[in-house]
Amino acid sequence: MQVERLRVTQFRCYERADVTFAAGVTAIVGANGAGKTSLLEAAHLALTGYSPRTTNDARCVQEGAAFLRVEAEVVARGSSHDVSVGFEPGVPKRVTLDGKSLRSRDQLDAWWTCLVFLPDRLAVVKRAPAVRRAYLDRATSRLEPAHLTEVLAYTRALTQRNALLRRVRAGVTPGAALDVWDVVLAKHGAAIIAARSRTCAALAPLFAERLVALGGPGGSTLTYRPRLDGGEKDLLAALEARRGVDIDRAVSGTGPHMDDVLLSERRRDLRVYGSQGEQRTAVLALLLAEARLIVERRGEEPILLLDDVLSELDTGRRRRLIETVREHGQALITTTEVAHLPEPPDGVLVVSAGSVAPLVERG
Ligand SMILES: Nc1ncnc2c1ncn2[C@@H]1O[C@H](COP(=O)(O)OP(=O)(O)OP(=O)(O)O)[C@@H](O)[C@H]1O
Ligand SMILES: [Mg+2]
Repeated sequence: MQVERLRVTQFRCYERADVTFAAGVTAIVGANGAGKTSLLEAAHLALTGYSPRTTNDARCVQEGAAFLRVEAEVVARGSSHDVSVGFEPGVPKRVTLDGKSLRSRDQLDAWWTCLVFLPDRLAVVKRAPAVRRAYLDRATSRLEPAHLTEVLAYTRALTQRNALLRRVRAGVTPGAALDVWDVVLAKHGAAIIAARSRTCAALAPLFAERLVALGGPGGSTLTYRPRLDGGEKDLLAALEARRGVDIDRAVSGTGPHMDDVLLSERRRDLRVYGSQGEQRTAVLALLLAEARLIVERRGEEPILLLDDVLSELDTGRRRRLIETVREHGQALITTTEVAHLPEPPDGVLVVSAGSVAPLVERG
């Protein structure tokens, strides 16, 4: 896929912007606060229907404005498409594809994929298991859309079971009332564990390979660490075995809501031992591994939106990153200095105080 043009109206610091993008790597250059991340965010909103920065769309509306609008021209699967997203606080967000209103923004996922790196994505390596689970579920849903439904069903059942555990502990409900929720949890839980392990198994070799391509060491691993490995029957047995403890604590102590993913380099857990640059490289390797997998499975390259990826990387890693990104098709990369890019990009957009324009070479 390729994004050819982006139009932005009353989005963050932009009153209006209209930009075209090169086929390969486009650098978005500007000082701190100029509007680089906002431009990536606008592209993401137009392509996916949501902001990668906030769940509160009202924050994206330019201060003092009543609504925002972002529109993109995209070439995907050999044909051109117009997508637009409009938002006004208090009114449901409106997403249209080729002039037709979509019921849900999720429908855009069937057309193309957008993979984004923002500095806060380092949390995938650095923070608690919940962040890695959320990442793994997003990645799995991009490969197997049905996964999202399983996760939602599991989460609902878990909330119900936990509420019931409190009631059983308080003596207002008999323990047998848990039977039905155990069955539901075991069913969706087993589907989640199976899908997560498929994703990890597919990502692991690509992650190791991409990490080497980015200048990291060989032999790095990505390992799924389920709290409980097994099928529906095993999960059901585990829930029943734990029932007494769960009632005492009024919380469900086993299942895929407690899983983790271990990322390691030189046999050391990157979360605990990785340097800043190593952790950043690992998150980027993960993103590029996923990009590979998406090309293999869907036959089309995702667009890569990379915010501030060059900082903290040495010159060698920067060069390798850009080379590797180039192999993946189109990418928009923000940077404060174009000199941080090891080789000239295919296009440069200069951003300053809410305006954006292509770089005009002085000659
Ligand atoms: N809703 C809004 N309305 C108007 N301006 C906003 C809104 N939200 C954010 N801004 C402003 O937009 C400007 C650009 O922010 P952005 O994060 O895009 O900068 P940036 O170029 O990525 O900077 P940095 O290099 O520091 O990451 C900031 O000054 C910010 O305060
Ligand atoms: Mg920024």
